[in-house]
Amino acid sequence: MAVEAGKAQFVQAMFTRIAGRYDLMNALMTFGRHQAWRRVAARATLLAPEGRALDLATGTADLALAIADVSPSRQVIGADFALGMLREARRKLRARPDARVALVAADALTLPFADASFACVTSAFLLRNLADLEQGLREMRRVARPGGRVIMLEITRPTLPVFASVFGLYFQRVVPVVGAAIAGDAEAYRYLPDSVARFLTPDELVVLMRNAGLRSVGYRRLGLGTIVIHTGVA
Ligand SMILES: C[S@@+](CC[C@H](N)C(=O)[O-])C[C@H]1O[C@@H](n2cnc3c(N)ncnc32)[C@H](O)[C@@H]1O
Repeated sequence: MAVEAGKAQFVQAMFTRIAGRYDLMNALMTFGRHQAWRRVAARATLLAPEGRALDLATGTADLALAIADVSPSRQVIGADFALGMLREARRKLRARPDARVALVAADALTLPFADASFACVTSAFLLRNLADLEQGLREMRRVARPGGRVIMLEITRPTLPVFASVFGLYFQRVVPVVGAAIAGDAEAYRYLPDSVARFLTPDELVVLMRNAGLRSVGYRRLGLGTIVIHTGVA
């Protein structure tokens, strides 16, 4: 995929704008299903060796907390480049002093971590936001230690014929209206379906993951085929 100039600044500003309403919008748009998908990703980290987890683009820290819930002894680092999202994450973590989650401001394309620092690297709903997807995948593999797991959750276009049309209508027409009403930001919630429409198919992403040096790459669909979880071994 081509490197997209100006995308990082656009994405960073957008998530900072919508941070306060981000969790509420997720709950509404997914009819409350979004945390179940993160729990599937969190359970996939149980196959990783012992050691620290890095949750990239942690946003409001929901996946970081889900990982802490399945592995209370594992240290989790949540990293994001939108300070507004990290502010919401910090607020949420104050209510969870038991969780071993620390937050770091960092860009997924130039991670401030040494090679082979983490037993697993996760992300939820990051990939289609990256200005340079290939570089993002290389960074995930670089900071994962050999044998460590890379686990990525993303929205994808469903393939079931009738459901795909209904979902397309809902996502393209209804979500931007709800986004305007609840988050006061129609642009952000038009960008969401557009970015999913433009993004790779799950099979195309498998090829890029292998090119980035990941092994045993595979995926499975969730949420009636609207969500996909890719896994690979560093
Ligand atoms: C759709 S939100 C997902 C947040 C969270 N993972 C979740 O499950 O709700 C996408 C997040 O990716 C972050 N992001 C996008 N590009 C990034 C980059 N290059 N480096 C770090 N964070 C990035 C955004 O700031 C935003 O918080």
